[in-house]
Amino acid sequence: MSNDPLIIFDTTLRDGEQSPGASMTLEEKVRIAKMLEQLRVDVIEAGFPVASPGDFNAVKAVADVIKDSSICGLSRALDKDIEAAGEALKNAVAPRIHTFIATSPIHMREKLNMQPDDVVENAIRAVKKARQYTDDVEFSAEDAGRSEPEFLFRIVEAAINAGATTINIPDTVGYTMPHQFGDLIRQLIEQVPNSDKAIFSTHCHNDLGLAVGNSLAGVLNGARQVECTINGLGERAGNAALEEIVMAVRTRQDVFPCDTRIDTTHIVPTSRMLSRITGFPVQPNKAIVGKNAFAHESGIHQDGVLKSRETYEIMRAQDVGWSDNQIVLGKHSGRNAVKTRLKELGFEFESEVALNSAFKRFKALADKKHEVFDEDLLVIVSQTSEKEKKAIYSLVFSEVCSETGETPEAHVTIEVEGKEMNAKATGGGPVDAVFKAIESVVNSNTELKLYSVNNITSGTDSQGEVTVQLEHDGKIVYGHGAHTDIVIASAKAYIDALNKQASVNDRSHPQHNSI
Ligand code: KIV
Ligand code: ZN
Repeated sequence: MSNDPLIIFDTTLRDGEQSPGASMTLEEKVRIAKMLEQLRVDVIEAGFPVASPGDFNAVKAVADVIKDSSICGLSRALDKDIEAAGEALKNAVAPRIHTFIATSPIHMREKLNMQPDDVVENAIRAVKKARQYTDDVEFSAEDAGRSEPEFLFRIVEAAINAGATTINIPDTVGYTMPHQFGDLIRQLIEQVPNSDKAIFSTHCHNDLGLAVGNSLAGVLNGARQVECTINGLGERAGNAALEEIVMAVRTRQDVFPCDTRIDTTHIVPTSRMLSRITGFPVQPNKAIVGKNAFAHESGIHQDGVLKSRETYEIMRAQDVGWSDNQIVLGKHSGRNAVKTRLKELGFEFESEVALNSAFKRFKALADKKHEVFDEDLLVIVSQTSEKEKKAIYSLVFSEVCSETGETPEAHVTIEVEGKEMNAKATGGGPVDAVFKAIESVVNSNTELKLYSVNNITSGTDSQGEVTVQLEHDGKIVYGHGAHTDIVIASAKAYIDALNKQASVNDRSHPQHNSI
């Protein structure tokens, strides 16, 4: 069996970020991009540059620093989109422009209001225009899963003739079954006369829980690029999960005639980092990266695993980045120990200033907590202080009185754009009182949609990790806070969400705006 390269195209920063509430700041995107580079992802889709100045700058910032992965910018089949992508990718070592247009009857009729001939013409024009900026051009037939195969053959042939080097076949609405999606890829490769001039790619959404199954069916039928995201983040039910694709192909080399160049030991740290940054928790039973993915609860399984690991384990936890070395540091540990352990977890500091600031937070935590675990360290580095983020709001002080039989009362001091403001409020419980006190200063007009607390590690001295979801005018933001005191963690999470809400910019959505 030949071992073709299977290209991993990660779209966490573009399709993943389209997931409501998952928006990331420029610094957060650069941090994730660096993790993806260490993971040895082949192509990083960094965003949709024309969407807003913020998106443009983020793609540019990623393109400026990443050297070992190609950087891709998305564009509709419009000159202004392609020009913005070309400009944002100017400094990339290996730039790719990804241009797309919808090809299903329903999308062409209802969204584009265009005739099929015009769609083909636009695709050709867009690919040619993109080729003026780079030789690496990807063309996607949006909603290919519901497109007429004959029309797909025609537009794909035209796109390749115009210069597309990758042809992406999205199951945009997660509608196809694995055997259908596999057949579609096979037919395209067989029927399109110039198919040997391009790499065929999958891009499957998870609406029926089949994103990974469909992508793998595509690979078995000749696709040599898979588009995917860390933790399966993405619109609606998400995308194909990178970790599942990579580990399925790596574990079943008896089935797949190809393999990726991914360094799988960085999978878990990257997953955790993304979860911390976006506030989207990873479900415990999630394959590969869930807390229970390698836990053996039942007595029979434990017995089997102790006798021979392979009785119940098909992969090794260490190979995907789970570490046995859980207790790492304590209050006597120095800066170098913190830096070294974080490096082992895949995180590198950009500057001495960033290391010093993280070390300060480490010391503060180690004072309260006996043992600092890997999870604690990742929280420390994923939550840069409000000041570093140049946030509008930051928590200066909070105090809550909560006694049996008495109504809890909270006092808070919040810095609002450099000015300290005090407030107090009562509430049904201590967290409610703190949120009301914060609101009496901020008056955000948001609705609290979700509040959840998880312990980051075990033990009553663990940090509590609080996630809140706020909604305002249909826009959703998540906030995240961690502290050994869960009331303070709650206040931090609420303020984090308010800051995100204040910075949510108006950007256009690539697939909701017709051309
Ligand atoms: O799901 C989709 O069709 C997309 C395209 C823009 C590739 O994300
Ligand atoms: Zn998509």
